[in-house]
Amino acid sequence: MNSITASKLSKEYRYFEKAAGLRGSIQSLFTRQTKVRQALSDFSFTIGEGEFVGLMGPNGAGKTTLIKLLTGIIQPTGGEVTVNGFCPAKGEAAFKKSFALVMGQKSQLWWDLPASDSLLLTKAIYAIPDRQYREALAYFTRLFAVENILSIPVRKLSLGERMKLELIAALLHSPRLLLLDEPTIGLDAVAQRQIRDMLKTAGRERGVTLLLTSHYTEDLLELTKRCIVLRSGWKIYDGDLQQLLAGYSLASTITVAFSTAKKLPALDQAEILQQSEYAAVIRTPKQQVENCLQQVLALSDIADIKITDEDATLLVERVYQSV
Ligand SMILES: Nc1ncnc2c1ncn2[C@@H]1O[C@H](COP(=O)(O)OP(=O)(O)OP(=O)(O)O)[C@@H](O)[C@H]1O
Ligand SMILES: [Mg+2]
Repeated sequence: MNSITASKLSKEYRYFEKAAGLRGSIQSLFTRQTKVRQALSDFSFTIGEGEFVGLMGPNGAGKTTLIKLLTGIIQPTGGEVTVNGFCPAKGEAAFKKSFALVMGQKSQLWWDLPASDSLLLTKAIYAIPDRQYREALAYFTRLFAVENILSIPVRKLSLGERMKLELIAALLHSPRLLLLDEPTIGLDAVAQRQIRDMLKTAGRERGVTLLLTSHYTEDLLELTKRCIVLRSGWKIYDGDLQQLLAGYSLASTITVAFSTAKKLPALDQAEILQQSEYAAVIRTPKQQVENCLQQVLALSDIADIKITDEDATLLVERVYQSV
């Protein structure tokens, strides 16, 4: 069975634009300029139960809009969507229990209360039976290693700690579908990795379906095999993520320092970006690093070599521009 089926889903936002300043405010009382923004256009796709799918696209592509449509927070202006067998727009209680939404930019926890109180509130809202609650809480607090911070007011927690608790709050009622909108935004590399690992384990052991947006390519590469790419509200790719990225190779930069003045000869499969008497900066496709190093090491008087790989995020930017 499919977890999500969307057919020609569209969303058009209508909003009023007001000119700047007091004059603009007064004018807008009488004549208001209605503006239309097409955030999603004829978007069709299905996600099978248990699938992990990444939703990618540059800022403003329509990712959050799609996630909001799937949850029923906003209504489509065209097309149809079914999520876990329900029509999200109807907002049925059974539908709300069947999914969870976590937005990295918004907190669902009560700021001044300890997380344990917010989790109890979640229990009440979703009417989670005592035993299921206790078991799920024990499972997730161990998995996310947060047993000792449950009683600290949420506002005092680090962003990484808070995010782990947000995810626990979302998972407690055993949703079949987990929608994550930039869950690792602003987190350091360690916390990002922890969250990815935990999601992988929780997904595997609990069999949820996952739809994830993230600007961090690592998140998507590790968690999802399939990706859907949006640009300006249109679907421009739906398929294997590795395959999409394979066509765009990452570059590596090799910085070499010499102990005597030297001029690099022309190199095979590499471009010399900068050259001074005692140093050179070389750029080469990542797969060619070894080949390039061999050529460089064949020279004498090398004092130091540093290799930096291009960030995978930059690669994705290139993909967006060219797909
Ligand atoms: N309530 C709204 N009224 C008018 N326009 C809106 C509204 N919400 C979103 N938009 C516009 O719709 C487009 C899609 O926005 P959306 O938030 O879905 O993008 P996104 O892909 O999530 O971007 P980001 O990566 O920055 O989070 C943007 O151009 C945005 O300005
Ligand atoms: Mg967004």
